[in-house]
Amino acid sequence: MSDIPTKLEGAKIYIQKLPVTFEFAHQLFGIVENNRNHILPWLDWALPEMTAKAEDEYNFALFADEDWAAGKRFEFAIFKQGTKELLGGICLIRYGNKRDKKGEIGYWLKKEATGNGYMQEAISLIEKFAYDLGYERLVIRNDVDNIPSKRVAEKSGYTFEGIERHGHYDRKNDKFVDINVFSKLRDEI
Ligand SMILES: CC(C)(COP(=O)(O)OP(=O)(O)OC[C@H]1O[C@@H](n2cnc3c(N)ncnc32)[C@H](O)[C@@H]1OP(=O)(O)O)[C@@H](O)C(=O)NCCC(=O)NCCS
Repeated sequence: MSDIPTKLEGAKIYIQKLPVTFEFAHQLFGIVENNRNHILPWLDWALPEMTAKAEDEYNFALFADEDWAAGKRFEFAIFKQGTKELLGGICLIRYGNKRDKKGEIGYWLKKEATGNGYMQEAISLIEKFAYDLGYERLVIRNDVDNIPSKRVAEKSGYTFEGIERHGHYDRKNDKFVDINVFSKLRDEI
């Protein structure tokens, strides 16, 4: 997978394959530490027992690097354009085997970076990336109570398909939650 781009440029942000460096791991961990309350209602990986120290972020980048090489998952960091300020992350996860060409987009921003349209731009960049890889169908899934994420999917032109009942096990609250399913097809990108 060395022929595929590792950096995509937008007007307000750029996205870059997760760097496998201690410097980046520390930067990322610092943001997670300061944003647990913002991220945790929706994403289990922000649980203190799952992301406890900078080393966990380093290992995450290392695993992401292996998945990238296998074409299974493409993890990007989101940076403010023209700077090295880390804003959040976005990923494309392939469903099924290589021939399926279907995948899911996952994302997050640190709290202070929200409200600027950064995520819509990051989604459009990762869509282009997926399109160039030949993907046919992209999905965004979010908790039915996650209004900002739902709005992002709608504003990015995704079609609401329905609710996946008990589609996610919420580890911190030990209960299943309902999930919105949004999709976009290749000829809609
Ligand atoms: C989801 C996320 C990336 C959205 O960030 P963003 O694109 O900057 O979104 P905004 O802050 O601009 O909010 C999007 C919309 O939701 C609205 N909104 C935000 N909080 C809201 C709330 N509590 N109630 C109702 N509406 C709300 C905003 O007004 C905005 O509406 P508009 O599009 O009509 O102007 C960001 O909130 C985030 O990272 N959250 C934590 C992690 C997460 O939830 N990831 C997604 C998991 S599926």
